[in-house]
Amino acid sequence: MAVITGTGSYAPSRVMTNDEFAAYLDTSDIWIRERTGIRERRIAAPEEATSDLAVSAAGKALDAAGLSASEIDGILLATATPDLLFPSTACLVQARLGADNAFAFDLNAVCSGFVYAMSVAKSMIESKAARRLLVIGSEVMSRTLDWSDRGTCILFGDGAGAVVVEASTTAVRGLETFRLRADGRYWEMIHVPAGGSRRSGTEVAPYIRMKGGETFKMAVRSLQESVMEVLSASGISPGEIDLLVPHQANIRIIDALASRLGLPSDKVVVNIEHYGNTSAASVPVALDEAVRAGRVKEGSRILLTAFGAGVTWGSGLLTWEAETQKRSRA
Ligand code: UT7
Repeated sequence: MAVITGTGSYAPSRVMTNDEFAAYLDTSDIWIRERTGIRERRIAAPEEATSDLAVSAAGKALDAAGLSASEIDGILLATATPDLLFPSTACLVQARLGADNAFAFDLNAVCSGFVYAMSVAKSMIESKAARRLLVIGSEVMSRTLDWSDRGTCILFGDGAGAVVVEASTTAVRGLETFRLRADGRYWEMIHVPAGGSRRSGTEVAPYIRMKGGETFKMAVRSLQESVMEVLSASGISPGEIDLLVPHQANIRIIDALASRLGLPSDKVVVNIEHYGNTSAASVPVALDEAVRAGRVKEGSRILLTAFGAGVTWGSGLLTWEAETQKRSRA
């Protein structure tokens, strides 16, 4: 059985408000708030890269779990904005943390990356390939933005979230059911056209292009289907969910999902107003904030769900049993 035993997150200190966009673009604070739910986002400092954010979040998750970096067997880092094309950002994080006994690799499913990585972590622990893993979502989306495109630049922000996942013999449910999906036919819906092997960055600007309206509709439909699939595979009804931790892309997508599930707002984690869409970091940052705000209790049943470029999507049900696991370690 795999369980989460600690969470952590980090956001760069620079806060960028909607009014800063309105000062140079044909947009307004009110449009952005009403159409997306975003009030502000964090922007990494020029010297900050994805690994720096990840190291800060991971350090907090290790502290919360009561473990040192050398006790970790592996690092799974979900990102679409790595420091370098290679080596992986996970390897840079491994060295900085001093996680001397850990393997390390990146996983790219863009905004669904953390949910994908959690599913991989569950499988690795259940197959006994690892006993203790750090799962991180970290992004510096601001480096991929066309700051003159009002349809995209107002949406994204930078941040990192991390969890420690451990093998447990005392947990009852832990990471329960995960379902992952992808449909690459829609790769153009959200993409960065350069920077990889298809085109060099000199021909085409390496900035996000997105068909906002189509993405919105597909996200609403896919998230609902995915959540229902996980609930039915787990044999539980929406009313048994204690906390929904959705990807923070647009408040209207989250509201549509919560309303379909009949979940009141106190059972839904929303922090989009402060961070915008931080891609793979969004779910673990929201989870960490919920844990630290006391919204997660021992035995809470938590549903993670995300949709992103690829297109990819997925959901996972877990039961919070951190204290049970930590007691059994002592
Ligand atoms: O993380 C991956 C998943 N990503 C998402 O799920 C993002 C999904 N998409 C969205 O969140 C929304 O589609 C947007 C927020 C991007 C756009 O909202 P919308 O309500 O779908 O607007 P729209 O694209 O239908 O555009 C409506 C109008 C357009 O003007 P016209 O053509 O009607 O004159 C846009 O040009 O709003 C305009 N518009 C803006 N106006 C002011 C688009 N962006 C802005 C803006 N400020 N920032």
